[in-house]
Amino acid sequence: MVKDIEGRTAFITGGANGIGLGIARAFARAGAKIALADVDLAGLGRAAAELSDITQVSTIVLDVRDRAAYVRAADDAEARLGPVSLLFNNAGVGGETPVEKLSFELWDWSLGINLQGVINGVQIFMPRMVARGRGGHIVNTASAAGLAASGAGVLYHTAKYAVVGMAESLALELEPFGIGVSALCPGPVATDIVRRSHMQQPAADLRADQIEAADAKRVRMSKWLAKGASPEAVGDLVLGAVRENRLYIHTDRWIAPFVEARAATLLASMPVSPPEGR
Ligand SMILES: NC(=O)c1ccc[n+]([C@@H]2O[C@H](COP(=O)([O-])OP(=O)(O)OC[C@H]3O[C@@H](n4cnc5c(N)ncnc54)[C@H](O)[C@@H]3O)[C@@H](O)[C@H]2O)c1
Repeated sequence: MVKDIEGRTAFITGGANGIGLGIARAFARAGAKIALADVDLAGLGRAAAELSDITQVSTIVLDVRDRAAYVRAADDAEARLGPVSLLFNNAGVGGETPVEKLSFELWDWSLGINLQGVINGVQIFMPRMVARGRGGHIVNTASAAGLAASGAGVLYHTAKYAVVGMAESLALELEPFGIGVSALCPGPVATDIVRRSHMQQPAADLRADQIEAADAKRVRMSKWLAKGASPEAVGDLVLGAVRENRLYIHTDRWIAPFVEARAATLLASMPVSPPEGR
């Protein structure tokens, strides 16, 4: 369990804005050195200007899908700030596409960032953390959408379920190495993810009525998120959860009825006794 946050180095993807920046603020105040990786150069500049008043900060422009660049970013961060033992696989995108208009390009975009980006972070830093033997903690930002299908779209649900599954299994396998793992499963958080995701989402071949419906859904989503938790509150929650080595980090209970229904359906689907002939 990581109780000594002070002096450790944290590597945070998607750290220029939103939840990643909230996590950076909380860990900077707790005395960690902060490496931020993001595609948003201007956001990185703003974050660095703010955080460097509190702690040592290093920033790098990185698309988490780019494995070679990710290795270079990891080497660079460790050369500047020392060995990374706190890893936050947080970069992510939302996106709205009617299911009949999905394409391989959209699957690759969404799963590339939301899942492969997390795999890249784990696969690059985990062996280093294990080899150094100083323990550490990995937080995968999933979503409440990783716990039950609840209308966030098949791309997002698929990636976030996988991220939760990865955290659950990694937590078991990394425990002997003193490395804790958490799945951050926020409900609504007041960030600009809807707009940011829309700006970089590959185009889909939508009809006029579908464009109108998607626009309206984005407006509804943005309003809903604006009423959610603040990124700062989420950062503080994550800090507490890392200190206590908690597997799941929730911001609220809105997904609870969906989880209950899913668990009930799953359990009810299981046979009472094994099939005959085994
Ligand atoms: N906001 C919410 O309500 C909410 C709820 C549940 C889960 N999440 C998850 O939280 C994480 C952070 O989201 P947020 O709400 O803070 O959004 P955000 O848009 O404010 O922050 C996401 C950051 O990731 C960066 N990013 C996007 N694509 C990238 C890439 N390919 N490589 C590197 N960086 C990239 C963006 O530039 C941005 O700085 C995401 O994984 C998201 O799915 C958000």
